[in-house]
Amino acid sequence: MYFLAFVLSCLGSSVLADDYFHSLYLDPNKTYHLSWKFNKSHIEFHTEVKTLGYVMLGLSTDGNLENADVFFAGVSNGQPYSSNYYGNSDGKLSLQSISEWHLMYSNESNMETTLTFSRELSGPNMKMNITQNTMRVLWGYGKTDNVSDNLQPDGVKSLYLLQEQLPEPVMPNDTFAIQFRMNDTQIPKSKTTYWCKSFETPQLDEQVHAIVLSPYIQEGNEAFVHHMIVYGCYRNTTKGINNGYEAKCYSKNMPIDWYFCNEVVFGWAIGGSKFVLPKHTGMSFGGKDDPVYYLLEMHYDNPQEKEGVLDSSGIDITLTKSKRQYNVGMLSVGYVVPQPMQVIPPYAKEFKYYGHCEACGSMIKPERNNQWNEDGVKMFAVLLHAHLAGRKIRLHHYRDGKKLPDIMYDENYDFNYQELRYMKNETTLLQG
Ligand SMILES: *[C@@H]1O[C@H](CO)[C@@H](O)[C@H](O)[C@H]1NC(C)=O
Ligand SMILES: *[C@@H]1O[C@H](CO)[C@@H](O)[C@H](O)[C@H]1NC(C)=O
Ligand SMILES: *[C@@H]1O[C@H](CO)[C@@H](O)[C@H](O)[C@H]1NC(C)=O
Ligand SMILES: *[C@@H]1O[C@H](CO)[C@@H](O)[C@H](O)[C@H]1NC(C)=O
Ligand SMILES: *[C@@H]1O[C@H](CO)[C@@H](O)[C@H](O)[C@H]1NC(C)=O
Ligand SMILES: *[C@@H]1O[C@H](CO)[C@@H](O)[C@H](O)[C@H]1NC(C)=O
Ligand SMILES: *[C@@H]1O[C@H](CO)[C@@H](O)[C@H](O)[C@H]1NC(C)=O
Ligand SMILES: *[C@@H]1O[C@H](CO)[C@@H](O)[C@H](O)[C@H]1NC(C)=O
Ligand SMILES: *[C@@H]1O[C@H](CO)[C@@H](O)[C@H](O)[C@H]1NC(C)=O
Repeated sequence: MYFLAFVLSCLGSSVLADDYFHSLYLDPNKTYHLSWKFNKSHIEFHTEVKTLGYVMLGLSTDGNLENADVFFAGVSNGQPYSSNYYGNSDGKLSLQSISEWHLMYSNESNMETTLTFSRELSGPNMKMNITQNTMRVLWGYGKTDNVSDNLQPDGVKSLYLLQEQLPEPVMPNDTFAIQFRMNDTQIPKSKTTYWCKSFETPQLDEQVHAIVLSPYIQEGNEAFVHHMIVYGCYRNTTKGINNGYEAKCYSKNMPIDWYFCNEVVFGWAIGGSKFVLPKHTGMSFGGKDDPVYYLLEMHYDNPQEKEGVLDSSGIDITLTKSKRQYNVGMLSVGYVVPQPMQVIPPYAKEFKYYGHCEACGSMIKPERNNQWNEDGVKMFAVLLHAHLAGRKIRLHHYRDGKKLPDIMYDENYDFNYQELRYMKNETTLLQG
């Protein structure tokens, strides 16, 4: 188990815009569109759902109705209505006499119901607080406006609701893109596969900066691509392995050099979005201290063991010669899962792994050690990452023997949802 933290410098800011800064469809059929924004005290949701009946939105820690806080609203005969239910311990809904949710706007037209509603993020009397924990958002809608206590959600979606607004991509006029993608790779007929492919560092006349890293998922293959990681590689001793060679990762076909590709450049997993670097930062490419080549690791899911599925997904990288003020790197801290296994005592109800990074400086590749100086480095985003057994992750930070406030935590970690979390304020790390 390990977590990853992006590291760099200077001050970041995020201003609440009038617009909703996050939005997505909750279902593959694009029936239920959810947008939201938040401030210090409240979260405001905006839903557009293709129904003339009720719309449901609920908050849950585990995806069940038990202890879930559920809001129903809609328009009936031109009149708005709304109600707040709470999931009892038996999973049955009970109507609340005072609603914690406030319907702010409603409209029903063209076979669609549009609603705006808000709620406090947390409070002493609230049954569900919205925190840094990954929320399981329950959603549903009905054909009629008949809301009752025996309704069930139509689906569940993990969301990190308190994600800060992504920085606006600032694009200089000299950007160009490179693609680290598979090329009609046959997804193996097994439930889970880690598939690796190498890419030569593009021929560049000078060091450049990567400013946007975006996942590219081949249309139709969304269900197969579980996660992707790009690693930087420095060791190059096996002939012909650094330019398009493909193999099952960690298998006997994997070139020995690839085991040394352990500098994570970018990680994406289901539910994640692209990585836009703040405008004062860039990730160095093609410089003399940069990786000699890159390795793309695909985690394919194929639960039905389908045969003959071809995939050309990967990561696209936008580069610029207009270098930014600060170099970005990735600092991995935590507990690395040792090959071939990690031991958790049987029947343990809970088991904690601690990863210490007492001299974090030495964890940055010696090639990149020049990033540390007396001012330290600044961290602006964190990816909390663990494998299937991971339930909770917490990243904290000590200085002069004192524990500083948590940098990031998730008590409700979902392996299938690993989103890079931007921080509102950059955190300074000093070399220790
Ligand atoms: C999504 O749409 C397809 C095709 O129209 C339909 O067969 C399927 O039942 C829909 N799924 C849901 C969850 O509504
Ligand atoms: C926070 O958001 C809520 C809901 O959108 C709004 O009613 C409230 O005025 C906002 N508070 C501040 C301080 O902006
Ligand atoms: C409801 O939505 C329709 C279509 O977008 C729009 O024409 C109408 O003005 C809206 N009504 C209200 C009260 O906002
Ligand atoms: C929500 O947070 C408040 C503090 O803001 C706390 O008093 C309350 O117990 C929390 N409620 C739950 C259900 O965790
Ligand atoms: C709404 O529910 C009531 C009581 O359960 C039932 O009598 C009525 O037929 C329902 N209406 C619709 C449109 O389903
Ligand atoms: C790109 O922008 C720079 C300054 O930001 C300017 O000097 C240069 O002329 C521009 N180049 C093109 C091709 O527009
Ligand atoms: C993908 O493979 C095909 C067939 O081998 C080849 O013609 C094509 O150039 C490759 N595309 C890329 C982007 O490497
Ligand atoms: C990697 O090693 C091969 C020989 O093993 C050499 O031809 C190639 O230039 C090296 N590539 C880089 C980027 O150092
Ligand atoms: C971020 O910094 C501002 C200004 O220094 C401060 O008011 C605010 O409390 C900080 N927010 C967090 C979450 O640390």
